[in-house]
Amino acid sequence: MRIAVIGKGNIGGTLGSKWRAAGHEVVYGARDGSGQGPGGAPVRSIGEALKDAEVVLLAVPGQAVPDVVNEQGAALAGKVVIDAVNRMGAPEPDSRALIAAAAPSARYVRAFNSLGWENFADPVAGANLFFAADPEARAAAEELISAVGLEPAFVGDATATATVDALLPLWFALVSQNGGNRKVALRMVR
Ligand SMILES: NC(=O)c1ccc[n+]([C@@H]2O[C@H](COP(=O)([O-])OP(=O)(O)OC[C@H]3O[C@@H](n4cnc5c(N)ncnc54)[C@H](OP(=O)(O)O)[C@@H]3O)[C@@H](O)[C@H]2O)c1
Repeated sequence: MRIAVIGKGNIGGTLGSKWRAAGHEVVYGARDGSGQGPGGAPVRSIGEALKDAEVVLLAVPGQAVPDVVNEQGAALAGKVVIDAVNRMGAPEPDSRALIAAAAPSARYVRAFNSLGWENFADPVAGANLFFAADPEARAAAEELISAVGLEPAFVGDATATATVDALLPLWFALVSQNGGNRKVALRMVR
């Protein structure tokens, strides 16, 4: 897949590196817009990174999302947009409504926001990543979650975003109850 990773910090840099290592074509979109990013993928301006992408990962701070999404709405049209951003303090931590308003044909995925980045860099064997996705984006999301080394667990279409987000306070509580160890993840048993 051709993936634009917007933000190359803990989340963007970790996922971009993993996906590139798995054989996907990764380009980072960033304010500096040049050079090489984590894992060796090129860094471009956000607009350039989006140009040929099929999949977009949003991994910028929450306060940056409205500007990025509004400026790039046309470029997000028709793409799979994975929202990893937690807008802490906002009425809703996800950016689904913002993305839908700016790019109504974007296919939304809520994933990679409910665990700390350490769990993407070096996943605990058997851990799940719970995610929500528009039906047309589900297969891509599953492939990209698997590429990181986590087992995808689909909780529903994009309207199930709040179900994914409900795991965030649970994860924080488990980290706190485990002495601050952020390498804590969740597993579904059947
Ligand atoms: N850290 C985690 O474990 C974790 C887990 C789940 C979800 N998240 C979410 O993931 C997102 C990223 O977190 P992170 O830990 O990866 O943050 P981070 O390490 O601080 O990286 C943020 C990235 O966003 C870029 N950025 C900052 N302001 C920007 C702007 N106005 N426009 C464009 N790019 C901008 C930064 O680039 P510059 O170099 O230009 O500043 C940097 O590459 C956050 O929304 C967070 O809620 C984080």
